[in-house]
Amino acid sequence: MNYVMPKIDKMLHGGDYNPEQWLDRPDILNEDIELMKKANVNVVTLGVFSWSVYEPVEGEFNFQWLLNIMDNLYENGIYAILGTPSGARPAWLDEKYPEAMRVAKNGVRNHHGLRHNFCMSSPKYREKIAILDTHLANNFGSHKGLILWHISNELGGECYCNHCKHRFQEFLRNKYENDIKELNQQWWTTFWSHQYQSFEQIEPPYQNGETTIHGLNLDWKRFTTWNMTDFMKSEIEILKKNVLEVPVTTNFMRLYNGLDYYEMAKEIDIISWDSYPAWNNDYESLSKTAFDTAFDHGVMRSFKRDKPFLLMESTPSQVNWHPFNKLKRPEIHKLSCIQATACGADMIGYFQWRKGRGSFEQYHGAVLDHLGRSDTRVFRDVTEVGELLKKMEPVTGSLLKSEVGMIFDWNNRWAIEDLAGLSKNKKYEDTCRNQYEIFLRNGIEMDIISQEADFSEYKLLVLPMLYLIKPGYSNRLKDYVKKGGTVIATYLTGYVNENTLCHLGGFPGDGLQELFGLYIEEIDSLYPNDSNGVSILMNSHQSSVTFSVSDFCDIIKPQDATVIGRYTKDFYAGTPALTVNSYGDGMAYYVGARMDEKGMEYLYQKIWKEIGITPKQLPEGIEYHVRSNEEDTFEFYLNYTNEVKNIMDISEGTNLITGEKISQELSINPYDVTVIKLTNTEK
Ligand code: GAL
Repeated sequence: MNYVMPKIDKMLHGGDYNPEQWLDRPDILNEDIELMKKANVNVVTLGVFSWSVYEPVEGEFNFQWLLNIMDNLYENGIYAILGTPSGARPAWLDEKYPEAMRVAKNGVRNHHGLRHNFCMSSPKYREKIAILDTHLANNFGSHKGLILWHISNELGGECYCNHCKHRFQEFLRNKYENDIKELNQQWWTTFWSHQYQSFEQIEPPYQNGETTIHGLNLDWKRFTTWNMTDFMKSEIEILKKNVLEVPVTTNFMRLYNGLDYYEMAKEIDIISWDSYPAWNNDYESLSKTAFDTAFDHGVMRSFKRDKPFLLMESTPSQVNWHPFNKLKRPEIHKLSCIQATACGADMIGYFQWRKGRGSFEQYHGAVLDHLGRSDTRVFRDVTEVGELLKKMEPVTGSLLKSEVGMIFDWNNRWAIEDLAGLSKNKKYEDTCRNQYEIFLRNGIEMDIISQEADFSEYKLLVLPMLYLIKPGYSNRLKDYVKKGGTVIATYLTGYVNENTLCHLGGFPGDGLQELFGLYIEEIDSLYPNDSNGVSILMNSHQSSVTFSVSDFCDIIKPQDATVIGRYTKDFYAGTPALTVNSYGDGMAYYVGARMDEKGMEYLYQKIWKEIGITPKQLPEGIEYHVRSNEEDTFEFYLNYTNEVKNIMDISEGTNLITGEKISQELSINPYDVTVIKLTNTEK
């Protein structure tokens, strides 16, 4: 079994608990424990923003209040995840050490306040948090209830202070091996006379400074990731030095664009993240919101493919920071929680247990409202999920497996976003999401991975808009296809090296023309109301189907590739838009234009058939996943529609939630879920 933590062989259910806000109300603290038990809560996250209570005055510490609470929780069967409080600074610290406050992109230092805005380079800040973390390790490290450290909170943002500037210069000096000429070459600084004579001249991309050098912008983002990761590591090191056996996480914020989560994920033991979708909004279907969330879970799961992840935060009712904060519909609570487990989570965590009386989050949803009663809809919904999670105990430690990988890469995302030209409608993230959704609708699991990840075992590798290719990646791709793998790439593939210098000799560059058997002579960027078509000859070669394309159209010059689709309009009507090249034992598909989802699905179906991937017949609005371990297989079906949905050809098994035997046909009620433990794999 791949349990997420050695001690934990059951699904975790709980969330952020802020007892420090209620220390003058022992009645409430006692009631909390009773109600947690009633709500089937077995874990809480503590201390995330407790610095000013731990250390009200510099050097004077107080941890007893939390020790008492943790003892009490543990005696009542509730584990603790303990945060380090670096996410928000006490007033005394900013007053005495203003250098700990972050400097914004305009070069101006923040005032005291808010959160998530410390300078991650500041030696003073690192020193102060190291002292505090050492106390945490010493006081709580051996507590029986402690199962996980939670570093800071949703690390993010950038700092433009002088200290960070100098660290950026050092980072560049290391990267370019002290060779300023090389940096100038890679950043192409002769353009507009931007050459640097020394590393000391280089500044971060201040708002009113140098924002036009793509290489600089990209290196700044890499630096920020490195610096934030370095800060996080400095906290981890303290904890691990003092406490060996407790694993470490940090809570990611969805697909936050400012930090390369692939880099950060390497440094933590367990992946956890915070999910706050706008359920039941007025601009998309419920299943669209759900499928988007499944993509987010997919990215998180894929960071560590050998372990479940944790849903650290989600709201039990509404949030307070969306433009409109609708109540979470009763059925959605169950659906979204079980969806997370279907996608590989072994914990459902909420923000928050009890609403605070005042300040910024006083109207943020919680298990317990200001009303203070447990006979509420939200409390019942939460309790029900807790019960379901108990029934799903056998699923704990099982994993999702996939025959398909897709590259979704932060460096590539940054480079595409910064690219000046072509079209405003670059939509890298949306394009990846759309591909994922096609696979999900067809019941085909997909790992979402970086360029560094191993992809040798997949039958298919999907490479949407792989504009920036890291060193060595093209060779790995060619190797993979030579050995029988299949890749599918699109317009905007292989334009630049890792520092955004264009490849010469045509796109796709870096040796990829050989793989795809073509080169691109030009790329047309269409206006939003323009469109073209791609006509694909069907198997019989007698008739064809046509799909709409928008935004990007490559003008393709095939060399060895076979043309499978041609443009229908404009001056390039009749020229190739879709090709395939057989390379070694494998195949390399190239999609030269942004084809609509129907077109992509048509193409994928053809590919799946060729390479032996079997799609599943799923009714519209149904999400399907499979988790398994050495002994058992669990199938998840989630219905996001207001209709009963029938699914045929169901393998024999037991519904883990109701205990009923299932075979052949499954009927799922509107907004309901079914988790089946398959019989043939039962012990
Ligand atoms: C998260 C954050 C929590 C809380 C929550 C509200 O992003 O980590 O501390 O603010 O949002 O939705």
